[in-house]
Amino acid sequence: MKTTINSYRFYISSENEGKVREIKQYIKEECKVATEIIPLTINHLTDEQKKRYNPVEDGESFLENARIKARALFSIVNAPVIADDSGLEVDLLNGDPGVFSSRYEKTDELRIAKLLNELKNQPSHLKTARFISCICFIDKTGNEIFFNGKVEGLIINEPRGKNGFGYDPVFLYQPMNKTFGELLPEEKQVVSHRSKALKLFLQFLDRYIA
Ligand code: IMP
Repeated sequence: MKTTINSYRFYISSENEGKVREIKQYIKEECKVATEIIPLTINHLTDEQKKRYNPVEDGESFLENARIKARALFSIVNAPVIADDSGLEVDLLNGDPGVFSSRYEKTDELRIAKLLNELKNQPSHLKTARFISCICFIDKTGNEIFFNGKVEGLIINEPRGKNGFGYDPVFLYQPMNKTFGELLPEEKQVVSHRSKALKLFLQFLDRYIA
């Protein structure tokens, strides 16, 4: 006989507000899992747990960093966890900023300015790039499973749009001729790297819970 549970809780191991917002919104609007999914965040930790939460992202790949973040929180809460490690790969920069996307500069504005400066004078059609997302899920017994998503685009010369976060205003999604900064949240969540990885994760979770 198939047993089902009414709700399933897991923590999101991230302090990036834009990312957490997108993950929660995707789960709320796109989740087809019969069980109620309740995502918890770092804000649900006790003060003592928050002090212990300090993942050091020194991995050499998105997968390694996703695992580092997921393990860091799992060791504190001893409950299911997901972590997304993501970033922007630019072909003319040999894949940079890549796993250093969040550490490329101190703020989103400075990161974008540095990126545009690196690419100035380059022909537009060669400024191909992609966003990558790797999600690591750790279940209550400590099993680790990974889900990947990516989306291709072009880096443009001037930021466009105020939506999203990070490099979104300079990432042109050609099928819609809009930057991710111009897409509405509900549009980005249909095509983004993160939503593709999340879709795979939720499909897995549906089978896993059942
Ligand atoms: P992480 O928290 O170490 O995974 O950092 C990911 C970084 O990559 C973010 O701080 C952003 O700079 C960039 N990034 C990842 N996903 C996105 C996205 O969906 N839009 C824009 N920038 C992103």
